Amino acid sequence: MKVEEITGTEAVIAQEKKYGAHNYSPLPVVLTKGEGVYLWDIEGKRYYDFLSAYSAVNQGHCHPKIIGAMTDQASRLSLTSRAFYNDKLGDAEELVCKQFGYDKALFMNSGSEAVETAIKLVRKWGYTKKGIAPNTAIILAAERNFHGRTTGIISFSTDPSSTDGFGPANPGYKVIPFNDIETLEKELISHPQICGFLVEPIQGEAGVLIPHDGYLKKAHELCIKYNVKLITDEIQTGIGRTGKMLASYYDDVRADILIVGKALSGGVLPVSAVMCDDEIMMCIKPGEHGSTFGGNPVAAAVTIASIEVMLEEKLTENAFAMGMIFRERMNDLKAKYPNLISAVRGRGLLNAVDIIPSETYGSASNVCLMLMEKGLLCKATHKHTIRFSPPLVITEGQMLECCDLIANVIASI
Ligand SMILES: Cc1ncc(COP(=O)(O)O)c(C=O)c1O
Repeated sequence: MKVEEITGTEAVIAQEKKYGAHNYSPLPVVLTKGEGVYLWDIEGKRYYDFLSAYSAVNQGHCHPKIIGAMTDQASRLSLTSRAFYNDKLGDAEELVCKQFGYDKALFMNSGSEAVETAIKLVRKWGYTKKGIAPNTAIILAAERNFHGRTTGIISFSTDPSSTDGFGPANPGYKVIPFNDIETLEKELISHPQICGFLVEPIQGEAGVLIPHDGYLKKAHELCIKYNVKLITDEIQTGIGRTGKMLASYYDDVRADILIVGKALSGGVLPVSAVMCDDEIMMCIKPGEHGSTFGGNPVAAAVTIASIEVMLEEKLTENAFAMGMIFRERMNDLKAKYPNLISAVRGRGLLNAVDIIPSETYGSASNVCLMLMEKGLLCKATHKHTIRFSPPLVITEGQMLECCDLIANVIASI
């Protein structure tokens, strides 16, 4: 099928099915335009976006300041590689280091690459500073984690769909239950070769699982006690998504190594970064790690604009306030339909509603299809959970309209 013959939704989907890998199961909607909280499909129908490209579009679709920074920089200088300096990267590094309170930043592209970078950094620190015997370092991770899709990262995934058929797993990882301080301490006592504990402050892909208050703080205290670095993966939870600039701030934690991505670029480019202090970052020497595109001038310009938009428009504060409204309304729905909704949870605008499966309406993904019909796009994560994560620019009026829309769909089933 030639591109020019494609006119309708079905044709586009058929083309993708024919020529693209089947590694996702998208909703049957073909999008062509986005602005703020809205998306439009090729038939001209408008939707509210309640996924934000898995929390990458926190600043809203096609934010003029971010797009302006990108096009301006792209027309001047797009890529130098880091064989040379460029006149934008330093500004972005300084901005994020000052914003998040670290000595240094290392820019990469995808979130997975940043997680791999953090793994390399903490291992190098473990060998050169902690004195771990060569090639014996262990990194702890939490059950039900999601840190990306590389073969290194899936080596410590507990999700069979991430791992089955992709082995052998890499050694050097140990998985412990999430939100379990006692097991963490037991492992730290038993294995002095542990160099890092990698954890999501809220497990997004697992279904927006929030640990108990103080978990991260206690985990960090233990890491300090046993000379282990706490690595927080804030790729999904960071940049205002949970109603604070970082979800770790709910526990007053400044991780030893911070990983951000997704909304660091406002969702216009793959941009990620790892931040830490010199004690860790300076363990890596020239030639030991890098990326052709990591820290390119366009990524740097977009990062600066994206962080500025977050601050200028007070999007973190808005996420906090809009999240309160959303959960209040969803809890009302849960009280009204206890046989349909079993749980509502979240922080800021990273929220989940658990749907009790039934013969009549099926599972959470069927409810997503019904919401799509009514003009709201969201996605099920695992079988029973719908994640609701709109761009942080959503207004109160829009949020109330969306809550009504969800309530109407729930009432109709
Ligand atoms: C917590 C977390 N870490 C890492 C990743 C991987 O990021 P990317 O898809 O950009 O590689 C994701 C993506 O959803 C994520 O949510």
